[in-house]
Amino acid sequence: MDTLIPTESNTVTGDAFFNRDTERRLVREKVENGEPLLLTGQRRMGKSSLAREIGRALIEEKGDTWSYVFVDIQSCVSGAELVARLAEEIHKHPDFSSKIKSWLKPILKLFNNIEELSAGEFSIKIREYLNESNWQLKGRELLQEIESSDKRTLLVLDEFPDVINKIYKNEQVEGVATLLDWLRPEIQATVPNKKISIILSGSIGLEPVLQRMKLTVKINQMAVYRLKPWKREIARNCFKALANYKKIEVDDAIFEYFLDQLGIYIPQHIQQCWARLDAYLQEEEKQSASLADAEHVFHKIILRSDSDRMISHYENRLQETLGEHDYPVAVQLLDSMCDGGPFTADQARLFKEELTIDIDIHYLLGVLSHDGYLEEQDSQWIFNDSLLRKWWQGRKKFR
Ligand SMILES: Nc1ncnc2c1ncn2[C@@H]1O[C@H](COP(=O)(O)OP(=O)(O)OP(=O)(O)O)[C@@H](O)[C@H]1O
Ligand SMILES: [Mg+2]
Repeated sequence: MDTLIPTESNTVTGDAFFNRDTERRLVREKVENGEPLLLTGQRRMGKSSLAREIGRALIEEKGDTWSYVFVDIQSCVSGAELVARLAEEIHKHPDFSSKIKSWLKPILKLFNNIEELSAGEFSIKIREYLNESNWQLKGRELLQEIESSDKRTLLVLDEFPDVINKIYKNEQVEGVATLLDWLRPEIQATVPNKKISIILSGSIGLEPVLQRMKLTVKINQMAVYRLKPWKREIARNCFKALANYKKIEVDDAIFEYFLDQLGIYIPQHIQQCWARLDAYLQEEEKQSASLADAEHVFHKIILRSDSDRMISHYENRLQETLGEHDYPVAVQLLDSMCDGGPFTADQARLFKEELTIDIDIHYLLGVLSHDGYLEEQDSQWIFNDSLLRKWWQGRKKFR
C-alpha cells in the first residue's frame, strides 16, 4: 500500500515525493550524460522538487562519484549576486568547502580568518568583494574549482527566469545579454569533460521573455524539459497514498469528485485538496469523509478562503514578470477569457485595437500559455479548465 507524507508548501523529496518515475528517468539520463538542461513548467508543478529528488537519489546511489549542489537564485538581481549565491552554497558544501579556499586566496585580506566566518558574515563579505567588474572572472574561476573536483557535480540553479526578469527590470536587455553571454560559454565549457551537469530551472515564461528580447539564441544550446501535470491515474494514486499515510478511509467517489473539480492535475493542487479535507475532518472530529464533506471543502474552503491568497500569489508573480505596462492588460485579458470559450486570432486583434496602449498581444498570450493559464491550439487560446480558472472567475466578481 503506497503511502505519502503530506507536504503542502515546501519542496518535496524522499518519502514525501510521489511518482514522476518517467520524468526522473529522463532528466537523470541527461544529467548522467552531462547534457545541460532547462527544466521549465508552470507554477507549483514540482520543478524544484524534481531537481532536488534527482540530486538526493544521485548522492544516495553514487555519492562516491557525484556531488550535488542546489542553488536557489531567486533573490539575485545581478550577475555578481548570482556568483555570490553560488559561492555561499559551495562554501558550506562538504565536498567543496576546502576548494573554495584557493578561490578566495586573492581576496583573503578581506577575511580575517575564513574558518571563523559564520555563513552570514561570509555572505556579507563575498558581496562586498564581487562587483560589476570582477564577477564574470570570479564566476568562471569558481566553476573551474567545482570542475577540478575528483567527482562529477550536478549543479542546479533554481528560479533562473526570476533572475532574468529582475536583471531586465534593472539593466534592461543589455543586462540580460551580459549575463547570458557569460553563462552560455560557461555552460558549453562543461560539456566536453562532463564534470559539471547543469540544470537551470524555473517557471514564469522564460522562453517568451527571452524571445521578446531576441535572446533565445543565447540559451538554445540547452535541451528543454517541460514538466507537465500528472495524468489522472497518478493524481488519484497520490490522493490515495496521502489518505493511506493518515490511515483515513476515503471512498473512491470522493477522490473522483476532487479530480473532476481540478481538471488539470498539478501536484500542489492535489496536496492542497487533501490538506484541506484532512483538516476539515479533524475539526469536525470525523473518521471518514462523505461526498458532502468533499463538496464543502472544495466550494467553501478551497474556492473561497484559499482563493484570495492563491490568486494574490499568482497575480504577484505575473506582475513581476510582465511589469506595470503589460500586467493590467493581462488581467483584463484573463478576465475576458475566464468565463468563455476559445479566443481566436481575430479576437486577439480586436482586443488589441480597443486598447489605449500599445501591447504585443502575442507575447502576452505566450507568457500566459507558458505559465499554464492558457492553452494554445491551432491559433486559438483557451483558459485551461483548472483550479486556477475557478479562482480567477471568483476574483473577477470582485473587480
Ligand atoms: N512529486 C511530488 N510528490 C508530491 N507532491 C509534490 C510533488 N511535486 C510537487 N508536489 C507538491 O507541489 C508543491 C510545489 O512543489 P515545488 O515547489 O517543487 O514546485 P515548483 O514547480 O518548483 O513551484 P514554483 O513554480 O513555485 O517554483 C510541493 O510543496 C508539494 O506540495
Ligand atoms: Mg520551484
